[in-house]
Amino acid sequence: MESTIPERIAVVTGSNKGIGLEICRQLLSKGVKVVLTARDEERGIAAVKKLQESGASDVVFHQLDVADVSSAEALGKFIQTQFGKLDILVNNAAVSGAEIEPQALTLSNQPGGGAFSSLLDMTLETHEKAEECININYYGTKRMCKVFISLLQLSQAPKIINLSSGYGRLKCIPGEAIRKKIANINDLTEERLDALVESFLNDFKEEKHKENDINWNTGTRTVEEGAKGPVMLALLPNDSPSGLFYCQTEVSSFE
Ligand SMILES: NC(=O)c1ccc[n+]([C@@H]2O[C@H](COP(=O)([O-])OP(=O)(O)OC[C@H]3O[C@@H](n4cnc5c(N)ncnc54)[C@H](OP(=O)(O)O)[C@@H]3O)[C@@H](O)[C@H]2O)c1
Repeated sequence: MESTIPERIAVVTGSNKGIGLEICRQLLSKGVKVVLTARDEERGIAAVKKLQESGASDVVFHQLDVADVSSAEALGKFIQTQFGKLDILVNNAAVSGAEIEPQALTLSNQPGGGAFSSLLDMTLETHEKAEECININYYGTKRMCKVFISLLQLSQAPKIINLSSGYGRLKCIPGEAIRKKIANINDLTEERLDALVESFLNDFKEEKHKENDINWNTGTRTVEEGAKGPVMLALLPNDSPSGLFYCQTEVSSFE
């Protein structure tokens, strides 16, 4: 008897380019129906066209700005009406949280240039940029989970994949006090974490911190390699472990 795999629906945030677009491409190749989202409609539609031109058909576009709750709720309504459930939520959308001098990028493209760590010395980190970054990368992810949790609970194998970075590990947090509080996992409630995020932003005003971000095209891996881990996690069987930190496709320490 022929077994039919139930249709799986995925939402990928910030998927008009980069790793998000590649995650869409790889999920589509595994038979998942993908809702490609972008804050800018034109860029999103162009990305869908690109996937369709390379042979994918099970992809639709919906606008989504993760910083805007009404935009996230509109996407939630769309998914509910169109599919009645969600199987995979990939929280990929993010910004670097810093500005960089165009001259620094020119230097990084020269032979011997390009090291991400050296670019970090040339970034400008303002309170305004930090606030935008926290609103998109942290609260945006929370917003998405909140909007989609009830639709995910209607799936037979729900998955939430949060893209992070090696720079998200505890050892990259320079302030010892805040690092200790985040490491104290048994005491770390959602409210405490929110409070730590707010105190981090206050530190910014007083220039008490130092922080690192996305890479201005100086990455050492391709988007295909970057997308492989999130896609593998999105397609794991239902009884797989949850709440782990992965580096690529391997479980990794968060420290
Ligand atoms: N690249 C790396 O070296 C690296 C390493 C480790 C982890 N990561 C993680 O991988 C993920 C993707 O990185 P990437 O390199 O592909 O970044 P990217 O090329 O800069 O793409 C980021 C995507 O997020 C979107 N975005 C930004 N703000 C948004 C908002 N408010 N609402 C909706 N979408 C928004 C961007 O849209 P626009 O085009 O409109 O700006 C873009 O589509 C991020 O979570 C990043 O932290 C990247």
